[in-house]
Amino acid sequence: MSDDDPRAAVAEHVPIVDEVGNADVEWDVFDSNAYFAHNYGTLRWDDAAIIKIIADFFAANLHQQFIGHAIDVGSGTNLYPALTMLPYASRVTLYERAWTNRDWLSHSLEEPQPSWGQFWTAIAGGRHHYDRITKPLELLADRAEVAKGNVFDLRPNRYDLGTMFFVAESITTRDDEFRRATRLFVNSLTPNAPFAAAFMRNSSGYVVGDKRFPACMVSEDDVRDALEPVARRVEIKTVDSHDLREGYGGMMVATGRKK
Ligand SMILES: C[S@@+](CC[C@H](N)C(=O)[O-])C[C@H]1O[C@@H](n2cnc3c(N)ncnc32)[C@H](O)[C@@H]1O
Repeated sequence: MSDDDPRAAVAEHVPIVDEVGNADVEWDVFDSNAYFAHNYGTLRWDDAAIIKIIADFFAANLHQQFIGHAIDVGSGTNLYPALTMLPYASRVTLYERAWTNRDWLSHSLEEPQPSWGQFWTAIAGGRHHYDRITKPLELLADRAEVAKGNVFDLRPNRYDLGTMFFVAESITTRDDEFRRATRLFVNSLTPNAPFAAAFMRNSSGYVVGDKRFPACMVSEDDVRDALEPVARRVEIKTVDSHDLREGYGGMMVATGRKK
């Protein structure tokens, strides 16, 4: 194109954004240690705010005697969603596509990083379903199973409660895949089962180690639309967060029950 070609002006101002689907990404090179160090090496205040929302939600929606099979979809290197389900779960399936993260999870259940103590203090503080658990990380190791799995293969009506954190919008740039992942997660639960899901708001993608991963830019309305066919009593709260990295506009937490 020459400088006076009108297409040059168009090309400058219209970014060409290729779609990246979930299957286009090599998930098995996900750098677990880098992701853990950046996100969960210490308890951040945005995660503390999310913990308050979801631990209060589970405590209010489940009886102390309730005990079922929980699933956390796309666990990565994050143990706190599973820890928030611990009082209510005889089994916790940590369902993860990347083998690096499954390997990290298996090792970390046996030898947890010290920061999980900070997370547990935030989870259990003042919540009596939680504070009767004296050795949460040992209990989690006894109850957790690390499973190789793809969110798009989840079957309906299998689990009694569930979490999915920063997955549906952070594994693809495709809106249809974001919606499908969100719906398949909720649909994998039994009718009326409570769930909590977290989403990055307006994320433009993220770097882990030296590799870039795709994301889908979603808002509160997009999350509500994705959940509408499968969930009821949906509440979406936005958590102000801006310094984790560049290219996002806060975090969103959706709670509700499967229809
Ligand atoms: C942004 S990370 C979120 C990790 C963790 N849940 C957290 O809260 O930090 C996205 C995770 O989804 C996993 N993942 C990617 N595609 C997946 C799929 N199709 N099914 C299940 N997990 C997937 C990745 O390996 C990674 O662990």
